[in-house]
Amino acid sequence: MADRIAVVGSNMVDLVTYVDRMPERGETVEAPDFAMGFGGKGANQAVAAARLGAEVAMITCVGDDMFGPQVRDNLAGYGVNVTHVRQVAGKASGVAPIFVERDGENAILIVKGANADLSPDDIDAAEDTLRAADAILLQLEVPLETVYHAVAFGARHGVTTVLNPAPADRDLDIARLEGLDWFCPNESELALLSDLPTGTDDEVVAAARSLIARGIRNVVVTLGGRGARMVTADRVAEIPPVPVTPVDTTGAGDAFIGSFARFLTAGVPAEEALTRAARYAAHSITGRGTQTSYADTEGFAAFCDGL
Ligand code: RIB
Ligand code: NA
Repeated sequence: MADRIAVVGSNMVDLVTYVDRMPERGETVEAPDFAMGFGGKGANQAVAAARLGAEVAMITCVGDDMFGPQVRDNLAGYGVNVTHVRQVAGKASGVAPIFVERDGENAILIVKGANADLSPDDIDAAEDTLRAADAILLQLEVPLETVYHAVAFGARHGVTTVLNPAPADRDLDIARLEGLDWFCPNESELALLSDLPTGTDDEVVAAARSLIARGIRNVVVTLGGRGARMVTADRVAEIPPVPVTPVDTTGAGDAFIGSFARFLTAGVPAEEALTRAARYAAHSITGRGTQTSYADTEGFAAFCDGL
């Protein structure tokens, strides 16, 4: 079956404050605007893929507070299969206080809440959905054991796995990612996880290759304004940056990963899928919020026509 994507990961309620500048310690500063939105790296990636027409299922945990049902309804509203959205008794939903400055750059706090309860058992409970998927998407806002379990599941059943190691976590054990198909860090995550410098292009490639030597199949490194690099065992491809005027960069990385997976499972060759994903992510930073700024197929086509 084509175009089936399963996201094993997080959901958050984003509490986004738009600031002229960040307060100093002990200081009170008035901010011009605030918005609540649905976020979390896993949910964002799921929504990006769904907006582009993929059949998406989300394996995630919500709290038993007022946010839990809203998070589930939001995903369902985008057409995401929510059969494996589990509500955890006695736990709060994940939330993310986010601060967006005038240049579109952000600072994010995450409070994992129920996301910390997503366990290997949840993976096993979703076995049928995961086996039927063409790709499994993973991030690091849920327990590492769950991530390792899902990577092993994908490797065992021949389902393509994609891991976005964000937020950076020094405890991620590369040895337990053997058989992972696509590892997609940014340059600082790559530096942390490879223990190698990533200041120059050559260093980025060398650091990515060091992970390939340890059992990961392909690495995609996002480089912010410099685009991205795809590094496989035998080649390196440069994915060009897409210049736009940033409004809110929050969730651009998730737009990139979710759309990449969608294009890949639709049969688009990897390098082209990444080139399109870079455009999709660029489009997302021209609008406020995360999921609220993700284009559907038509909107994305119109954006690409205007480039
Ligand atoms: O990647 C952006 C996301 O990071 C936000 O939606 C926030 O919830 C945090 O998980
Ligand atoms: Na955005």
